[in-house]
Amino acid sequence: MTAWYESTFGRDYLSLYPHRNDEEAIQDIAALLRLTDLPRREPLLDLCCGAGRHLAALRREGFTDLTGLDLSSHLLAEARARLDAASMEDVQLLRADMRDIPQRDRFTAIISLFTSFGYFASQQEDERVLVSAYRALTRDGTFVLDTLNREHVLASLTPSEEKELGDMCVRIRRHISRDGLRVEKETRVTQPGSPVTIYRESVRMYAKREIEDMLGRIGFVNTHFFGSLQGDAFTNSSARMVFVTSKVAHAPYH
Ligand SMILES: C[S@@+](CC[C@H](N)C(=O)[O-])C[C@H]1O[C@@H](n2cnc3c(N)ncnc32)[C@H](O)[C@@H]1O
Repeated sequence: MTAWYESTFGRDYLSLYPHRNDEEAIQDIAALLRLTDLPRREPLLDLCCGAGRHLAALRREGFTDLTGLDLSSHLLAEARARLDAASMEDVQLLRADMRDIPQRDRFTAIISLFTSFGYFASQQEDERVLVSAYRALTRDGTFVLDTLNREHVLASLTPSEEKELGDMCVRIRRHISRDGLRVEKETRVTQPGSPVTIYRESVRMYAKREIEDMLGRIGFVNTHFFGSLQGDAFTNSSARMVFVTSKVAHAPYH
């Protein structure tokens, strides 16, 4: 059976999230670089890079060794086109699953931005993503994870929404799964002359402590957390949870 994350990030995805654009990415990266001093001349991986908006922003900030990894061929093709159009042909793109980053001990920094975590059916599978990032980092490398905050989602969930995006009529339904662990989203897109398309998203919501525990088990150290990429203090009502953590040598998974 096809998992939701194999089919959702396709043809309509970028049109459904028009505000996740270059301008926002430039601001995200400026904020990230104020939060943590990532070395510009060393290898950086954008894990789940999507259409490459953060890679382009990083390149403009002077990063010279950039790789983006994503599972969606469609978004990777969009990323290639965006980067080539900006004369950023040197940025490498890789199609792979985030649980199996092919490189070991390669990246000084790995970033995972805008809720690319919590996608798998079990916590063990999600944890594999963190293990994979750990292995792909060089000693003392930095991992940045930007994801949603369970408490905020539970307190602010909008169950139903309708909007027009260009010629698309979009109806969104959200609910919390019966076990209370996941936020489920169904997006129904109607376009003149096309059959109705339905996209599903199912993201496991973690408490801060659960992610800290996973990072600690794997061997990450010096974990700092924030309520936004801008470095706001984390509270239960923060919309985001941002972890900045480091690898240490000779830890259990290495
Ligand atoms: C919410 S989007 C974020 C994209 C990008 N970080 C951004 O901010 O524009 C999540 C991304 O994860 C990718 N993705 C989903 N499942 C994946 C997997 N198993 N392995 C690698 N990438 C995956 C999707 O294709 C999509 O590009």
